[in-house]
Amino acid sequence: MNEQDYQLETLAVRAGIARSQFNEHSEALYLTSSFVFGSAAEAAARFSGQTPGNIYARFTNPTVTGMSAILATVMGLLSAGDHIVSSRSLFGATVQLFGNIMKRFGIETTFVSQTDVAAWRAAVQPNTKLLFAETPSNPLTEICDIAALSQVAKQAGALLAVDNCFCTPILQRPLDLGADLVIHSATKYLDGQGRVLGGAVLGRKEVVDPVFTFLRTAGPTMSAFNAWIFLKGLETLSLRMEAHSRSALELALWLEQQPQVERVFYPGLPSHPQYALAKQQQKTGGGIVAFEVKGGKDAAWRVVDATRMISITANLGDTKTTLTHPATTTHCRITPEQRAAAGIGDGLLRVGVGLEAVSDIQGDLARGLKV
Ligand SMILES: Cc1ncc(COP(=O)(O)O)c(C=O)c1O
Repeated sequence: MNEQDYQLETLAVRAGIARSQFNEHSEALYLTSSFVFGSAAEAAARFSGQTPGNIYARFTNPTVTGMSAILATVMGLLSAGDHIVSSRSLFGATVQLFGNIMKRFGIETTFVSQTDVAAWRAAVQPNTKLLFAETPSNPLTEICDIAALSQVAKQAGALLAVDNCFCTPILQRPLDLGADLVIHSATKYLDGQGRVLGGAVLGRKEVVDPVFTFLRTAGPTMSAFNAWIFLKGLETLSLRMEAHSRSALELALWLEQQPQVERVFYPGLPSHPQYALAKQQQKTGGGIVAFEVKGGKDAAWRVVDATRMISITANLGDTKTTLTHPATTTHCRITPEQRAAAGIGDGLLRVGVGLEAVSDIQGDLARGLKV
């Protein structure tokens, strides 16, 4: 199909299908580690890149469309002596990767405020090669201005990478706003049913090529089965993101009315500090709502423990609503001072709003919110 002629929703269902000789309707799952060649010359031409085609499943497989993700980006594009400017409001493992592991290999990171463009600009050094942001951030849904950061990156001669995990391409298009790379934890909404882990890195060919070369050489690649699950998930992504967002907004508005709730964090709420920016760069607020319960950890744990339907788990982006207490789960490895600086209070809870009836989600949370 000519992809230019179709909308994103259609492409998510239809694009990229290469049917086998059996003309299957659903994509086939190719469980094979290698592919055969008709001759030595064909093998040589494939390996040298002269002719396209599959070679070995570490780097080519008809089911596999994306690769995981942040490590490969850094390893593919940066060298010892290079510098990253990164938001400090990042998924915890990304903070560890940049702040600890990459540091050991001579790549330094300066962490700055997610929302302060001047701080990003001030942190740039002559050796800055990458600006890295996650928007909305996990768990507080802070928004950074992608277009403004892309200008900072261009002036610095650096690349801007955006982790688009919370929005997916349905709700936010960082490349259109000037980002050079988009990164996804496909584990979340791209799968959509909490089944498998995976990631994707997207961008212009010349930017992504070194990332692919790293994957090809080092091997942290996706299994065909996982890729096939993601292809199935993509078919319903657009509908799911609309439904997740609709329910999340309804839940956020309801939470704002609850006397036991101190504050609600959701980019679709007018009370969100970057509401105007979110409206400009996202289609909707997305499916993640965080809220601070009055009474700190004990009160927050009461809400968690009173649930009967909602899943107590750290994943998100699932049809099933998930609930986590960041201070004692996803962010338990950082110090209380670091948590306070990141705005992650002891009463904070994060909801990955699923596709159940909103009234049932409310009912499940209301039980623990009663005084
Ligand atoms: C924003 C964000 N980026 C990256 C990741 C890491 O993805 P994965 O768990 O698929 O490795 C997560 C996981 O929770 C996340 O929330």
